[in-house]
Amino acid sequence: MSGLHDPKAHFILVPLVAAQGHTIPMLDMARLLAERGARVSFITTPVNAARIKPIIDRVKDSHLPIQFVTLPFACAKAGLPDGCENFDLLPSTEYVKAMFEGTSVLQEPLELFLRELRPKPNCMIADMCNPWTMEVARKLRIPRIIFHGPSCFYLLCQHNIALHSVYERVADDFEPFLVPDLPRQVQVNKAQALAFATGPEWANFMHQLAMAESTADGIVINSYDDLEPWYIENYQKAKGKKIWTIGPLCLCNKDVTSKATRGNKASMDEHAIIKWLDTMEPSSVIYANFGSAARAPPSQLIEIGCGLQASNQPFIWVVKEAELTPEIENWLSVELEESTSSRGLVIRGWAPQMVILSHPAVGGFLTHCGWNSISESISAGVLMITWPQFSDQFLNEKLIVDELEIGVAVGVKVPTSHVSEDGPVVVGRDDVQKAVSRLIDDGECGKERRMRVKELQEKATKAMEEGGSSYVNMTRLIQYIIENTNEEL
Ligand SMILES: *[C@@H]1O[C@H](CO)[C@@H](O)[C@H](O)[C@H]1NC(C)=O
Repeated sequence: MSGLHDPKAHFILVPLVAAQGHTIPMLDMARLLAERGARVSFITTPVNAARIKPIIDRVKDSHLPIQFVTLPFACAKAGLPDGCENFDLLPSTEYVKAMFEGTSVLQEPLELFLRELRPKPNCMIADMCNPWTMEVARKLRIPRIIFHGPSCFYLLCQHNIALHSVYERVADDFEPFLVPDLPRQVQVNKAQALAFATGPEWANFMHQLAMAESTADGIVINSYDDLEPWYIENYQKAKGKKIWTIGPLCLCNKDVTSKATRGNKASMDEHAIIKWLDTMEPSSVIYANFGSAARAPPSQLIEIGCGLQASNQPFIWVVKEAELTPEIENWLSVELEESTSSRGLVIRGWAPQMVILSHPAVGGFLTHCGWNSISESISAGVLMITWPQFSDQFLNEKLIVDELEIGVAVGVKVPTSHVSEDGPVVVGRDDVQKAVSRLIDDGECGKERRMRVKELQEKATKAMEEGGSSYVNMTRLIQYIIENTNEEL
């Protein structure tokens, strides 16, 4: 616990409570801060607290100084149906904007909670999607740091696109352009780079995000030095503020139970999955999981299933609760599971992803390219098949496929929305099959890819160990906060 002394720095962590993908890394961050001697208060809401209960229980058992603070979430005030405290509970896409903007109902309860705290907390770390925390921190004079979920590669691309007003010069959402001021050619279009929140109705919210970022005391990022050194350095220069890269955060989960209890409660016991994986050849299993947010329409699900079937590789495929229509349930059990019973495992609901990725039998991850999934894949040394859907995911794909060369693209061109009930088929079964066979390729290309991802895995582990770059950044973050709040303690 180098350099840390009483009084302990007290951090308030404010995740985007409505999104699992934003909450999970901040839970890891809470644990890392606490293990390094800080105190943590973690903000959540009733419905979401119930979801992360296994994690809360584990934290209690560990006796780490982490307190979970459940604030009331006034759904009606936010214009949301009763109990809709999470994106995956929304009845339709119409509510996505209300959900993003609606988390501001937490502003008052958070301020009330913080006012009561003695001594005053030292720092607030708030998800970039919580611009309302700016006002709370300003009023109470608490230093505020922004947590950005994605990579510096993505953040710098966005920064450069905005700086050069690229979107004002393109004819439409689909005109390709090169991201300015990068050391290599990165070609995207507006639909891919933005992928949501494109309409004018989002302008106000986007402006608030920019304000909250520019007035923050620094930024923490779930990445590490050796993954994207040029981008980290240049992002820091572009922003002109402190950037602490403290990841991959998922590596704080070292044993099977903590790997298995991330996010929602898993729908299948991790030991049963491990047992199944134990029967498979090393690096042979394709693991397909598309994250918590987007739902695929039945026709698209069938193409994915048929592609996995045709690949002749063993696979684990995660189909979300919300996707399990009677039609799909019937097709899964009658068609797919029947014909692939010896080599296919379908998980309905939430999967213990880190447990699966860490198993030596897994040889590839068909992923939606959310940053958590990518960092878990890299941390486990597993190659990826990329299938981006929205948000940062298309640019993440560029990083994985072109820059780091640790994955192959399935070939998605157009973003799909958060909640699509009857969207079009964007990738066919042949594309899935081809991507799988390219990924498991044993030729020179395949071997080099595999070597590169193993190298990045090793570097990720080193970064998080004592003396590693992320470890040191965490020390510096805590020290910076202690030094800058000492006179007020
Ligand atoms: C994070 O660590 C890297 C590598 O040691 C260092 O170059 C960088 O300045 C650190 N960042 C901060 C904000 O201290």
